[in-house]
Formats: sequence, structure tokens, C-alpha cells
Amino acid sequence: MTLPKLALDTEILQNTKVGDDVYALTVHGGALVNQAQPGQFIHLQIPAENVFLRRPFGIADTDEGNGRLTMYYRVAGKGTRALTGLQHGDKVNCLGPLGNGFSLSSKRPLLVGGGMGLAPLLLLTKRFQGKADVLMGGRNQAELFWKDIFEPYAHEIFITTDDGSLGVRGFTTELLPELLGQRKYDCIYTCGPEIMMRGIAKIAVQHDIPCQVSLEKRMACGLGACLSCVCDTANGERKKICKDGPVFRAQDVFFAKKKGIL
Ligand SMILES: Cc1cc2nc3c(=O)[nH]c(=O)nc-3n(C[C@H](O)[C@H](O)[C@H](O)COP(=O)(O)OP(=O)(O)OC[C@H]3O[C@@H](n4cnc5c(N)ncnc54)[C@H](O)[C@@H]3O)c2cc1C
Ligand code: FES
Repeated sequence: MTLPKLALDTEILQNTKVGDDVYALTVHGGALVNQAQPGQFIHLQIPAENVFLRRPFGIADTDEGNGRLTMYYRVAGKGTRALTGLQHGDKVNCLGPLGNGFSLSSKRPLLVGGGMGLAPLLLLTKRFQGKADVLMGGRNQAELFWKDIFEPYAHEIFITTDDGSLGVRGFTTELLPELLGQRKYDCIYTCGPEIMMRGIAKIAVQHDIPCQVSLEKRMACGLGACLSCVCDTANGERKKICKDGPVFRAQDVFFAKKKGIL
């Protein structure tokens, strides 16, 4: 059953800086909170001059008991910059939850996130209730403030940084084959820069492990009406990331049946 999408004027409870240019935004999410699934997103109407279109953000955390919903955002441009100025008590209109999220059927999941791609993986980690291992990558230690946030919910955490300031020096794609040689996972879930997700998906195929990827593209309506977010798929069909995704099976979007990698 498809639940109705809600557009709610939510009250901001917290808008706190948690890293270099990264903020955690918690709102009183009302009925949005109970419907939210990991991998889905919220389309935010940011109340600022010259910010007309809504902006999409992954749902990173929910607290059903207190009706709270949290997103993490990096300051990227005028919308997110304006968002940093909102305070406790201000109102922001949230449309959602939108899109199709991750499947939760895995018994032994590995989550691989790069940078802000870790945001939607937080709710996924929580829903796996201590079963999920998390491989996180970032440029440096400061970017991986996520470690402390994930720690209470993850089974085990593995870290790579480009500069070696935390965990193993290098990329998640370099550590992954080693992890797959030592541990048995039945599904890999990934979100982050596309180049990273393509690398992760390729390794997953080589190890015959199903892989789900969360895609990102600039969006306008967020509801499947404007076609601004379409992507190619393996069978030649075009899919709308906002409505058919943002989560897809890697083989459906990264691999063409005859020609190899798209
Ligand atoms: C499904 C989905 C979930 C997302 N979840 C998060 C999240 O949890 N946290 C987070 O920080 N960001 C997330 N994003 C990206 C976020 O929506 C953009 O960073 C934001 O809309 C930028 O708005 P702005 O007005 O600040 O930037 P703008 O002024 O609109 O643009 C500034 C720069 O950011 C680039 N940009 C804008 N939108 C995107 C996009 N979708 N992908 C890549 N580059 C973009 C522009 O090309 C431009 O270079 C998500 C995007 C999608 C599609
Ligand atoms: S954003 Fe309009 S169709 Fe996806």
C-alpha cells in the first residue's frame, strides 16, 4: 500500500553544527516520523529569498516516541546556507517521506558510506538493530565525525580516510575486498559519491553479493512529475530517481546486460 505523502509545517527543534560545514537538523515531524523508512528522503521548502524549489535530504534518524525526525546537511549553496540561519521554533515545510528506501531483508548486512552519504545509512544501521557492519570513508578524521554517531547502533565499524588521519589510509573500495575475504555478508548497501558506489557495486558483483545503491541527482518536484531526475538503467528504461529510487539494485542502474558497466 502506498501511503499518502505529507506536506507539513514542522517546527525546528535543533539545527546544530556537527562538522566542518555540516549541520544536524531535527524537526517535530508529526505523522512523517512513523512512515519514514531508511533510504527515503524529505523535500524541504527552505524559507529564504530566491530559494524557490524544495531541496531533498535523506532521512537520517527518527524518534517515534517524541515525534522527531533528523536530517544532516552539508552547506552546498544558497538553500543550505540559508538553512543554517534557522533556529529552534522556526517553521520549515517538509514534504515526504518520498521515494523507495532500502530493503531490510538482509541477515548479515554491510553498509558502505562516503561523506554525506552516511546520513541515510544511519537510520538503516539503527533499523538493523546491531546486525550491520559499517564501512565509512572520508577525506580526513574531521569528516568522519560520523563514527561516534554510528557507534551505539553498528555491529562493527571500519574506517578509511584519504589522508590516513583515521583508520586505514585509502578508499573504501580498497578495504572492501579485504573485508569480504574475512567476513560473510549477504547484502551491501551503499550511499555516497557515485564513483565510490560504482566501485563498491563492481566488487559486490565480483563476490556475488547483492548490492543496493542510493542515487542522487538535482531534483525539482520530487514526486515523479517533472523528469528532472531521470537516470538510465540496464534494460534501457529511464527511471525517475525521486519516485522509482533513490534506492536501486546496483545491477539495474550500474550494469548494462550485454555491454558491461554503464
Ligand atoms: C535523494 C537525495 C538525498 C539527499 N540527501 C542529502 C543529505 O542527506 N544531506 C546533504 O547534505 N545533501 C543531500 N542531498 C543533496 C542536497 O539536496 C543538495 O546539496 C542541496 O539541494 C543543495 O541545495 P543548495 O541550495 O544549498 O545548493 P544550490 O545553490 O542549489 O547548488 C549548490 C551546488 O550544489 C550542487 N547540487 C545541488 N543539488 C545537488 C544534488 N542533488 N546532487 C549533487 N549536487 C547538487 C549544485 O550543482 C551546485 O554546484 C541529497 C540529494 C538527493 C537527490
Ligand atoms: S524531481 Fe521531478 S521527476 Fe524527479
